[in-house]
Amino acid sequence: MPRHEANRMRRLPPYLFTIVDNWKQEVRETGREIIDFSMGNPDLEPPPNVLKALREALRIKGIHRYSKRTESIERNLRVAITKWYHGRFGIDLNPETEVLPLIGSKEGIAHLSLAFLNNDDLALIPSPAYPIHFNGVIMAGGILYNIPLKEENNYLPDLTQLSRETTRLSKLMILSYPHNPTAATCDLEFFNRVCHWAKDKDIIVAHDNAYSDFVFSGKRSPSILEAKGSKEFCVEFHTLSKSYSMPGWRIGFCVGNKEILASIDKTKSYVDFGLFRAIQSAAVEALTGPQTYVKKIVKLYKERVDLLVDGLNGIGWETKRPKATFYVWTRIPARFSALTSMEFTELLLRETGIAVAPGTGFGEYGEGYVRFALVVPEIQIKKAVDQIRVFLQAKD
Ligand SMILES: Cc1ncc(COP(=O)(O)O)c(C=O)c1O
Repeated sequence: MPRHEANRMRRLPPYLFTIVDNWKQEVRETGREIIDFSMGNPDLEPPPNVLKALREALRIKGIHRYSKRTESIERNLRVAITKWYHGRFGIDLNPETEVLPLIGSKEGIAHLSLAFLNNDDLALIPSPAYPIHFNGVIMAGGILYNIPLKEENNYLPDLTQLSRETTRLSKLMILSYPHNPTAATCDLEFFNRVCHWAKDKDIIVAHDNAYSDFVFSGKRSPSILEAKGSKEFCVEFHTLSKSYSMPGWRIGFCVGNKEILASIDKTKSYVDFGLFRAIQSAAVEALTGPQTYVKKIVKLYKERVDLLVDGLNGIGWETKRPKATFYVWTRIPARFSALTSMEFTELLLRETGIAVAPGTGFGEYGEGYVRFALVVPEIQIKKAVDQIRVFLQAKD
């Protein structure tokens, strides 16, 4: 660690995914093929109409210049986001004040903490969680307060367990359903309860809704902005990385309370120059064009999830079937219970070439679990199940 690194960076837990990446590289160098379930990095091609829109946008004169919020390209994107939001959730938003385009939702979530947390402010973060939810708090210099998510509570936080003092010191809470890594879902009733609880406590509630399209029951996953009074203190993050398979493009957005958005926007204005304008233009096509693509890929991910879950259960690794996302969250097999999730991940990777994400990569309450991201084709999933079968038999 460089001697001069800031304390807030030193306080960050080791980024376990970098460690897993290093192991993957070492295993690859031995000549073994890696089947990579470790990162939620979609492997599918974006919709063809979006790729076409990008090619066309690249021909627009001046497209390579910095983006300005007053220009038509960014205005069109803000309007497209409001239409998408209305279509998905029936919520009306003001495109000028209640919508903020982001260079990916991860960027926006990091800036949310930076914009709002002082050194003595607490942020309530359910654990396990997508890492930027808690790492963003630490990077901003705030105090992280983990709320354990338990399987027996369907991975929903129990806010009644928080002491009055904890609540008093808290300024921010970040939720996310459908949930990465556990794949848990929630209903609007849950959001209503959270908003009722947070209303008079002066706590900003942010909801990361990256997987709202990835629900297998056919039921719609709610937005927190559907909850009563939520626009007074809530914002919601979305991304095009998952629904439109555009992870490397870096585009997401935040919607909701205009004062909160203005502060994130202010923070961003000192750091970045917005999104590449050709990407904004293509994103308009993604959000307002035909949505059959989204249904198609959700079906495909469900097939992958089922293949893995059936496969693992078939070889004796008991695994619950998720109702949403493209993740499978499962306890490490009982015979390995003496190992940490990190140790099990390393053993599995070195012996089989199969890379998963260790539960503790998502925070302390992820211990005992691993996560499979179904971003590999079916043929590789079948191969992985076969290899895991041999691995488990050898350990019997
Ligand atoms: C819950 C959640 N939020 C945000 C992101 C990041 O999305 P983006 O690509 O928009 O930064 C991910 C990516 O895996 C995620 O799982």
